[in-house]
Amino acid sequence: MLQGKKILLGVTGSIAAYKMTILTRLLVKAGADVKIVMTPAAKDFVTPLSLSTLSRNHVLTGLTENDSWANHVMLGRWADIMLIAPLSCNSLAKMANGICDNLLMAVYLSATCPVVVAPAMDEDMWHHPSTADNLQKIRSYGNAVIPVENGELASGLVGEGRMAEPESIVSWLTDFFLRKNELAGKKVLITAGPTYEPLDPVRFIGNHSSGKMGAAIAAEMKNRGAEVTVVAGPVSISFSEGIRLVRVGSASEMFDACMAVFPETDIAVMSAAVADYTPVQMASQKIKKTDGAFTVTLTKTKDILKHLGQTKRNGQFLVGFALETNNEKEYALQKLQTKNADMIVLNSLNDAGAGFGHDTNKITIFDRQGNAFPFETKSKREVAIDIVNTIIQQLHANIY
Ligand code: CTP
Repeated sequence: MLQGKKILLGVTGSIAAYKMTILTRLLVKAGADVKIVMTPAAKDFVTPLSLSTLSRNHVLTGLTENDSWANHVMLGRWADIMLIAPLSCNSLAKMANGICDNLLMAVYLSATCPVVVAPAMDEDMWHHPSTADNLQKIRSYGNAVIPVENGELASGLVGEGRMAEPESIVSWLTDFFLRKNELAGKKVLITAGPTYEPLDPVRFIGNHSSGKMGAAIAAEMKNRGAEVTVVAGPVSISFSEGIRLVRVGSASEMFDACMAVFPETDIAVMSAAVADYTPVQMASQKIKKTDGAFTVTLTKTKDILKHLGQTKRNGQFLVGFALETNNEKEYALQKLQTKNADMIVLNSLNDAGAGFGHDTNKITIFDRQGNAFPFETKSKREVAIDIVNTIIQQLHANIY
């Protein structure tokens, strides 16, 4: 699985840095192409010479060497994955705050490839609230974290904070590349954001959906190798590179765009907050105010999820969302049935950190058998991983 994979290893100043000789050896033996960047502090724990000999590549330690400049941008573009191991407390804090005072941090900040870290620190540092905050921050930026292990520490204490062993890091990387191909060949349609229902040329009825949840699901689907189309209402966020983006305004435009893409789709995830009602008529000129009250007659929009559920053929997997304030489970299961979805993702507005306008979300997923999968409050990126993992499990179980 690691044959031919380009791995960029960043080494920071921690006693566990000596284990990078073993890790580099294992990765090269597995056929990976390993390039290494070290922080100045890392050189106190392992020499660039040992690592360049084992990796068979020149090891970079400074932004400039002799009279040449190390191209940090190209390194992050070259790699299939960037692994920072060991990650010291200091470098973690720099990653969390965007501090760029050495080559490794410059490479990290400009990396376009996925980034994973293997922290290493003493138990008390590991349990410090600032470490927990910094880890949470870098996770929310999309970085993965290989869990620390429990064992003997450099201080002589025994506890949590030990870097994962090189063999565990190799299996994490192997799993990562396996997961990357899980949805290869699958075509995915995702709706995201609000819809704007026009009243006249300057006014509309809309909602507060940001599209962040849909964008995070799209990014994760792409990470797993899927070919992704996003039909997005008016949103200001950006979508990952390589995603096909169809921009629409109203519910009816979103309906048409989805109908055009759905026949060729394997998995559809309807995360958009589509308006349920739209003005019967859009005034062709700006509506002028008068002394009396103003009444707008609304008519129902077409339910996109329901239409897809009705036209779905064998093998197509359909996911809906439900945002509820009361009787959450009952309503979510009702939507699953009436819209003929295969899975429903419930957000309850009773949960703190869930719903519109947050960077976090708290979900419970229901499958067709009525099984419930509850998850903790997490960043939308992490929630997207849970949603995609559950879809993949359902596809494997073939029970839809
Ligand atoms: N949905 C859709 N098209 C619509 C309305 C909703 O595709 N016109 C989709 C949403 O994207 C979501 C699911 O249906 O995946 C649930 O939407 P929601 O608005 O919560 O449910 P409704 O069925 O509209 O019911 P209610 O408003 O009564 O809760």
